[in-house]
Amino acid sequence: MGNSQTSYGDAGFSAFIRRAFSRHLGHGPEEFDKPVIGIANTFSEINRCHSHVKPMIEAIKQGVIMEGGTPLEFPTISIGEMFTSPTTMLYRNLVAMDTEEMIIAQPIDGTVLIGGCDKMAPAQLMGAASADKPAILFTGGPMNNGEYKGRTLGACSDCRHFWQEYKAGTVSEEEINEINERLAPTAGHCMVMGSASTIAACAEAMGMMLPGGAATPATANERMRLARETGRAIVRQVKENIRPSDILTKKALENGIRTLMAVGGSTNTVIHLIAIAKRLGLSLTLKEFDELSRNTPFIANLRPAGKYQLQDLFHAGGINAVLKELSPLLHLDQITVTGKTLGENIAGFELSEEYRDIVRPFENPLFDEGGIAVLFGNLAPDGAIIKPKAASNQLLNHRGQAVVFSSIEDMEKRIHDPELDVTAESVLVLQNAGPVGAPGMPEAGGIPIPEKLLKQGIRDMVRLSDCRMSGTASGAVILHAAPEAAVGGAIGLVQNGDWIELDVENRSLELMVSKEELEHRRRLWNPPTFETYLRGYPLLYRQHVLQANDGCDFDFMLPVKKEEGVSGKVLAGGGDMK
Ligand code: FES
Repeated sequence: MGNSQTSYGDAGFSAFIRRAFSRHLGHGPEEFDKPVIGIANTFSEINRCHSHVKPMIEAIKQGVIMEGGTPLEFPTISIGEMFTSPTTMLYRNLVAMDTEEMIIAQPIDGTVLIGGCDKMAPAQLMGAASADKPAILFTGGPMNNGEYKGRTLGACSDCRHFWQEYKAGTVSEEEINEINERLAPTAGHCMVMGSASTIAACAEAMGMMLPGGAATPATANERMRLARETGRAIVRQVKENIRPSDILTKKALENGIRTLMAVGGSTNTVIHLIAIAKRLGLSLTLKEFDELSRNTPFIANLRPAGKYQLQDLFHAGGINAVLKELSPLLHLDQITVTGKTLGENIAGFELSEEYRDIVRPFENPLFDEGGIAVLFGNLAPDGAIIKPKAASNQLLNHRGQAVVFSSIEDMEKRIHDPELDVTAESVLVLQNAGPVGAPGMPEAGGIPIPEKLLKQGIRDMVRLSDCRMSGTASGAVILHAAPEAAVGGAIGLVQNGDWIELDVENRSLELMVSKEELEHRRRLWNPPTFETYLRGYPLLYRQHVLQANDGCDFDFMLPVKKEEGVSGKVLAGGGDMK
C-alpha cells in the first residue's frame, strides 16, 4: 500500500489517509503488507467474450489468498469484436494505455490480466510490458464447438463460410437462421485458431500464461482450476520479482512467432507481437517473421487452415502438445510465469497417439512451412502479409488486373453491382483502409467475392488491401500493405486495369507499371480528405499511429531513454515557452 503514493507533497499524510480509506473492504493494514495483486477485470455484458469471467475472478482471488497475497479487482476498458465501431483495433492502444497506467498508478505489486476477445490480450501484454511490474495473462477461454446437422461449426470461420454460401444462393434463409443460432453456442472467445486463440497460444509459448491456459475451454472445470492456480502463480511471481521484461525477451518472442507459424495462427498477431517487442525496446521485423516461418513446420491441424478446433486441441493436450513437438526449434531456457523455464514446463508432457491428427509429429507436419508469408515489392516496400495455407493453391502465383475500390464505403457500395467489370482472374484492391485511412485497419481485407461470381461457383480470388482480416477467415488475401494508401503508399496509386503479379514462393508483390509511371502518379497524388473521426481519441490515433510493419502502436508509447530526457520546450510543441 506504500507504493504509488498519491502526491500531496507530504508522504506521511499520503500514507495516513490511504490507510484510512483502504478500510472500506474490511481489510486491516496487515493485509497490505502482503503482496497486493491487482486483477484487471474486463467483464462486460457488451463484450460477450468476457461476459462469463466473474466466477473465474473469484477463483483467482482464492488462489491469491491461498498463496498469501491480497487481491484487489479493478476495471479496465473491455472491447469486443462484433460490438465495437468501427473496429476494435482502433481501441487496442487505448486499452493498452489504460492497462499500463492503472498498473503503474495504483498500489499493486502484480497484476492478473483477464484477456479473451481478439484485441484484449495483445493490449494487456503491451501495457504490462511498459509498466513492467509482475503480470500474468489469464483468458476466459474458447467456446465449445458448435454443431449443425452433424457438422462442426466454428465461430467465426463458419460465420463467413455460410454467409458466402447464402449470398451464392446455396444456403436458404431458413438454414442461415438456424446456423446463426448455433454458431456461438457457449461462453468464451472464438474457438477456431483466430486472433483470440492465436495470441493466447503465443502468450503461453512466450511464458506469460500458465501451461494449458490457451486451449482450455471456457466451460471446462479445468479452467476454474487454472484460474485458482493463476492467482497463486502471480503471488509467487511477485515474491520472486519476475517481471514482463524478464519473460518477454527476444528469444521468447521468437518462441511466440514459431508457435504462431506452427498453429497457422492469425495475421493480426504479427502486428501485436511487433508492438509488444517495441514496448520493450526490442527490434522485430517482418523479415524475421518470414525467416522463422520458412523453417517452422505447420503442425496443428486447426481451422481456418486445418480441420479441428480449440476444444479438440484441448483434448490433445493444448498448446503444450504443440510446444513439445516444436521443442527442437524453441528456446527452452526462457523463464516463464511459473518461475520455471519453458523446457521445464513441458518436460513431463506426452502426446497420446490418438490425437496425432490434431497435433502432427514434427517430422510429419501438415505443411513444411509455417502459416504466414511476408511479401515485398513495389506495392508493399515495407511488407504485406498472406496466409498461403488458407488460400487456394492456384492463386499463390497469379497475375491479374486490378479492380480498385477507393475506400471501404466505395467497396460496400459497388462490390455486388452486377455491372462491376470483374472476372475470377481480377485482383480486388481496397485502398485507404489502413491504420490512418480507415482509421484502425478494420477487418475488411477479406473483400467479399462479388455476388455474380459467387453464383458462377467462384469462392476465392486474389485480394489486396492495407487493412486486416479476421484470424478466422481464409482466402488468397494480401493484407497490411505498407506503407498504407492514406500516407502515400503505392497501394494508393493502383488504378483499374493495372496488372498485379503475386508470387508467394518468391515472396513478391508487384504492380506491373513502370517506375516512371509510378512516379508520375505519385506526383499527382493528393492525401485523402477525412470527414469523420476528426477529434478526440480517433484524431490522436490518426496523428500518432505507426504503420502495420511497426506494430500500429502510437509513436509516443515507445520507450524513452531516461538519460536522454525530454525538455519542456519540446513537450510544448517546440515553441518559445513564455
Ligand atoms: Fe471475441 Fe471472436 S468475437 S474472440
